[in-house]
Amino acid sequence: MTLSFESLVWPDDAEAAIRFLTSNEWPFHGLPRLSYDQAAQVKLAGDDVASFWIRADTERIGLIRAFDLEDLDAGSPLFDLRIAEGARKFGVGRAAVTWLTAHLFSTHVELHRIEATTRHDNVAMQRVFERCSYRLEGRMLEAWKNADGTRSDTLTYAILRSEWRALPCS
Ligand SMILES: CC(C)(COP(=O)(O)OP(=O)(O)OC[C@H]1O[C@@H](n2cnc3c(N)ncnc32)[C@H](O)[C@@H]1OP(=O)(O)O)[C@@H](O)C(=O)NCCC(=O)NCCS
Repeated sequence: MTLSFESLVWPDDAEAAIRFLTSNEWPFHGLPRLSYDQAAQVKLAGDDVASFWIRADTERIGLIRAFDLEDLDAGSPLFDLRIAEGARKFGVGRAAVTWLTAHLFSTHVELHRIEATTRHDNVAMQRVFERCSYRLEGRMLEAWKNADGTRSDTLTYAILRSEWRALPCS
């Protein structure tokens, strides 16, 4: 499988993004199943958001959304990563976070750190963070609101530019 990453073009890719978001299940997101209208409300482009497709050859198998991009000098962008059900557990998550980290630090020279959060029971995403050298920075108790009204803990991860620079692959 040859992976590539490309910017989502807004609004040309809007329907493709809705199709992608509604045709997969997202068990660790606030809304595991998105309706058309809910998917249409996911912010994919704007001054503070940039999105990228993950392609395996010609097929779109994933979507990365980087947000909080408005004040890069002082702030820390976050990201959301979603891989199609049939493409999970093949190393795509790890490749995507490795690519995104390099892309953000290389594109934005003022960027000091990147943050990411995940639900406490999302073992796959935690493993991806560890494999990509993101540090666990904290656990926010009951900060994650689930669709059924229950609450979960949020784990927060980050990587500094200096930590990324020290990686053999950077
Ligand atoms: C979480 C997600 C991005 C991980 O991507 P992926 O392509 O499936 O993960 P990878 O294949 O790169 O695996 C990375 C590591 O996690 C491990 N892993 C993957 N899925 C796992 C699972 N369900 N349980 C335990 N470990 C798992 C892999 O074995 C691998 O570990 P290794 O490097 O030690 O072999 C993907 O499963 C996904 O999109 N899930 C739904 C959306 C989601 O939860 N996104 C995160 C939002 S914060």
